[in-house]
Amino acid sequence: MIKVQNLYYKYEDKFILENINIEVKEGFYTAIIGSNGSGKTTLIKHFNSLLLPTKGTVTVDGLSTKKDSLEVRKMVGMLFQNPEDQLINSVVEEDIAFGLENLNISSKEIISRVDKILKRLYIGHIAKSNVNMLSAGQKQLVALAGILVMKPKYIVFDEPTTLLDPKNKKNILRIINQLNKKDRITIILVTNIIADLRHADNIIIISDGKIIFNGKKNKLNKKIIKKAGLDA
Ligand SMILES: Nc1ncnc2c1ncn2[C@@H]1O[C@H](COP(=O)(O)OP(=O)(O)OP(=O)(O)O)[C@@H](O)[C@H]1O
Ligand SMILES: [Mg+2]
Repeated sequence: MIKVQNLYYKYEDKFILENINIEVKEGFYTAIIGSNGSGKTTLIKHFNSLLLPTKGTVTVDGLSTKKDSLEVRKMVGMLFQNPEDQLINSVVEEDIAFGLENLNISSKEIISRVDKILKRLYIGHIAKSNVNMLSAGQKQLVALAGILVMKPKYIVFDEPTTLLDPKNKKNILRIINQLNKKDRITIILVTNIIADLRHADNIIIISDGKIIFNGKKNKLNKKIIKKAGLDA
């Protein structure tokens, strides 16, 4: 479980996050939705120690993001809005293997894991391609593959549909749902699009750095959605 208690995050003189108390339970598919600048990315960066609380605590399976950041990062994978920020090597299969190279894993195991993920995401045909030559949708799948080979327990997707056309949007949402339902990976999907909530069990709405809704999807209503500045 990712547990956020009494979290405040201050940047310069402004509180970007205020008194956040949420729990992301294992096995669930949780969506965090909020308008531009509401604090979504700032919040989720606290889940894997990329940001540390000004006040309050964040724990992942009981481990503090402050004290146990290395362990926490192994458990929580994060896919950013722009996959280019995440691609390091120029050849696809090398890029996917990058995280594994830094661990104590045999090259045989690395090749086998990378191979499996390439097939799983139907991107085997671009294994030897140059990352810079790929489409936005393909780049995103390569970035996701690089996370999946690390076998994280939790994956956070920060607005994964924004840069994609309708077909690729549908594809990534389908894959995310499959990772949750089939592989039992706990999913946190960040979005500002109501339609993206389709597969989520739990919804957290953030507005101006505060949580204004946290509950099951069937408890959502138009009034709350409007309050958050989102289109129904
Ligand atoms: N490094 C930073 N420097 C200055 N301001 C920042 C920084 N990071 C976040 N902010 C401010 O914090 C607020 C929340 O930003 P954040 O990126 O978390 O929002 P968001 O909900 O992810 O927005 P978007 O939907 O546009 O991605 C905004 O007012 C933003 O200007
Ligand atoms: Mg953001």
